[in-house]
Amino acid sequence: MDTIDWSNLSFGYMKTDYNVRSYYRDGKWSEPQLETSEYLNLHMAATCLHYGQEVFEGQKAFMGKDGKVRIFRMRDNALRMQSSARGILMAEPPVELFEEMVVTAVKKNRRFVPPYESGASLYIRPLLIGTTAQVGVRPAKEYLLIVFVTPVGPYFKEGFKPTPMVILREYDRAAPLGTGRYKVGGNYAAGLPADEKAHRMGYSSVLYLDAKEKKYIDECGPANFFGIKNNTYVTPESTSILPSITNKSLMQLAKDMGMKIEQRRVPVEELSTFEEAGACGTAAVISPISRIDDLAENKTYVFCTDDKPGPVCEKLYHKLRAIQYGDEPDPYGWITVL
Ligand code: PLP
Ligand code: COI
Repeated sequence: MDTIDWSNLSFGYMKTDYNVRSYYRDGKWSEPQLETSEYLNLHMAATCLHYGQEVFEGQKAFMGKDGKVRIFRMRDNALRMQSSARGILMAEPPVELFEEMVVTAVKKNRRFVPPYESGASLYIRPLLIGTTAQVGVRPAKEYLLIVFVTPVGPYFKEGFKPTPMVILREYDRAAPLGTGRYKVGGNYAAGLPADEKAHRMGYSSVLYLDAKEKKYIDECGPANFFGIKNNTYVTPESTSILPSITNKSLMQLAKDMGMKIEQRRVPVEELSTFEEAGACGTAAVISPISRIDDLAENKTYVFCTDDKPGPVCEKLYHKLRAIQYGDEPDPYGWITVL
């Protein structure tokens, strides 16, 4: 334990002491069970392995200066997991069960919550899988909800520093009436080739356009997109993006800073009008975008020329982090203090 270099953690996996599990059988969820094993005993014909019945969540807990641990917007993650589960016909874990399991997983692994000064956090990964053995394409009757945690540093290795992103028009992530709005594993599998290509070319992430018309901005790999202009926070509305809890939080903070909020379709050409742009998500927090290259169209949109985030990104980032770490009061009821 003493050997963990908290300030240099990457967004990886590290074994912790416990995970928490609940089994759905005969229409009922079991009492949460504490587990020390990192492995599952799973039937080879389980629906999660063959037909993608798998949804997950991503959330974080933060160690405050006061030594208290704070979990961010846990209820919103519970509700989003329910929506994802409904989206691919899985049993929905009750909000209370989800919250109890998250709290237990954090409390039992408290020694893995990175210290305040490190700027790192404890990533919480709730995972729901279909476990019934069957070969026909039908929803499972039995499910397993697991919550595990792992300490993490920044998702983009540059942290809160502007990075370039790329539009690769030859790839789609999710269809307008498909599963993009749910946090299902298949969406991430579909995104792997574009992600790999973008990384190989030196970009931090792909910026996806809507799959149907290729006219509007969808989202940035594992994060939502936002642009800033004329004291306005603009973010795409689309049926194929994941409703980000970070984005929802930033919209609230921006509104309270006196900015206007526009959640609507955002045409690609509008990129040329933004003073700042960023990607936001639990893992990414805010990742300012330095420029976006639309390779097929041979266009480049530049948001900053030095290594510094713009002033609005800067303000939003510090405000969000201050609430998450407990440096500033939480007027919105977003935090569960342990
Ligand atoms: N979009 C996608 C595809 C994601 O995987 C995530 C991460 O959860 C987000 C957006 C950001 O959502 P949130 O802010 O709730 O973490
Ligand atoms: C998150 O931001 O929590 C994510 O799930 C993104 C990625 C690690 C899949």
